Amino acid sequence: MTLRYLPDAGKLYGPEFARDPQAIYAAMRAQHGAVAPAEIAPGVEAHLVIGYQAAIDVLTNAAGVWIKDARAWQARLPDTPEAAAMVGMLGYRVNVLFADGAEHARYRKVIADCFGMIQPHKLRDLVIDVSDSLIRRFAATGSADLAGDFARQIPLRVFNRLLGRPDADSSALISALSDMMEADGDVGARGTEAYGRYIGELIEAKYAARGDDLTSWFIDHPAGLSPEEVLQHLILILGAGFEPMASLISNTISRMVSDDRYYNSLSNGALSTYDALLEVVRAEPSMANYGPYFVSRPTEFHGTWIQPGELVLVSYAAANTEPCDVPEELRSDGGAYVGFGAGPHRCPATDPALLIAMTAIERLTSHLSDLELTVPREELAWRPGPFHRSLAHLPVRFTPIRPDQPGESPWSAQHPSSSTPSDPISQPKSDDYATSAPWSS
Ligand code: HEM
Repeated sequence: MTLRYLPDAGKLYGPEFARDPQAIYAAMRAQHGAVAPAEIAPGVEAHLVIGYQAAIDVLTNAAGVWIKDARAWQARLPDTPEAAAMVGMLGYRVNVLFADGAEHARYRKVIADCFGMIQPHKLRDLVIDVSDSLIRRFAATGSADLAGDFARQIPLRVFNRLLGRPDADSSALISALSDMMEADGDVGARGTEAYGRYIGELIEAKYAARGDDLTSWFIDHPAGLSPEEVLQHLILILGAGFEPMASLISNTISRMVSDDRYYNSLSNGALSTYDALLEVVRAEPSMANYGPYFVSRPTEFHGTWIQPGELVLVSYAAANTEPCDVPEELRSDGGAYVGFGAGPHRCPATDPALLIAMTAIERLTSHLSDLELTVPREELAWRPGPFHRSLAHLPVRFTPIRPDQPGESPWSAQHPSSSTPSDPISQPKSDDYATSAPWSS
């Protein structure tokens, strides 16, 4: 079967999907098996890969038919605002995500080299700095929305510093990216435009004056990326680093504060933050459905015919949670997962992503050790959109702490690497993060 009919396609948008995506995946699985027709916005179709083995088959490209070039798909898109809004996330760009073969390897090396220049302990110091400055804003009040006040602020503030951009710009960046990920008609299109503007200004500033930052390393990498290639990779890195990072942090906190196994861990170490993070990557991955893939020739795949130009999305969320005959306690893999992808396009930033999330959450729970949700977890609202699993709000209460109280607090525990700890967050010293460039030795 191919995507010419859609009466029974799973709808990956709207309140029903946001409330309980697993119910939609289960219905799709029951009706179609490993690959199911889906609608990611009104009138925009995709094949959704929901079986674990099928996901691995696409991601590792064992059959050699899978390609990333989205242009043939784009040419067939209906001329509607809903379809246009999908282009921000899925439209072809000159970057690693949409490249294959040698072109992909060239881009991937630049990313690996430049991310490899960030020293983990420096990144940790930076996240501590950013986390404490955010916690200081609400610690004395006894309540917070940890999605908006904390999780969604962390990645962009961290990347702002890593890229060498003033903190004052982070709010504009947060709203542009949130709009873009919402992928909802005009809002999505507006977000895409604002995001492009932000990155354009960043590039212009760094070509004019290099710093010790990711942007400058991209520009100076011996692979010799063109200005357009640098621009497109910064767009990708900020987009890829923001929404999945923010949701990984808030989804993990929401589990830790509503599940006794983790609640206990805050005081007696039953299960760690790292355990919680891996559980989220497996059971509720923040990048729920993505990894756009296409076939280079008509292909019969797990019972479905797929034609060139048809969009295939991998449902990391559905693949990870596919019912399995082997009971959990007998599985030696602890529950295999593809929450960071697999194969050549597997997330190249898994280690920094886990480090950022773990440091931020541990900072939060070490300062505010009695966090609890103000509503049961089942009543939390999730943001709409086909690609992410992302909490709209994460309302918590806790015993307030004050700047003048004894013991460690986000005020007293300012990290030695902080330059000036007042808000807005201070800029780093120029040599803060870098190890030496692999291409300079
Ligand atoms: C530090 C933050 C992050 C950065 C900079 C980042 C960057 C990237 C980049 C550049 C790619 C494309 C790689 C390629 O095509 O070769 C990618 C892929 C991917 N990332 Fe990340 N990422 C980050 C965090 C995350 C998080 C937190 C998740 C989810 C838990 C995630 C999930 C994925 C997945 C599933 C893919 C594979 C896409 C595919 O199959 O084509 N990433 N990431």
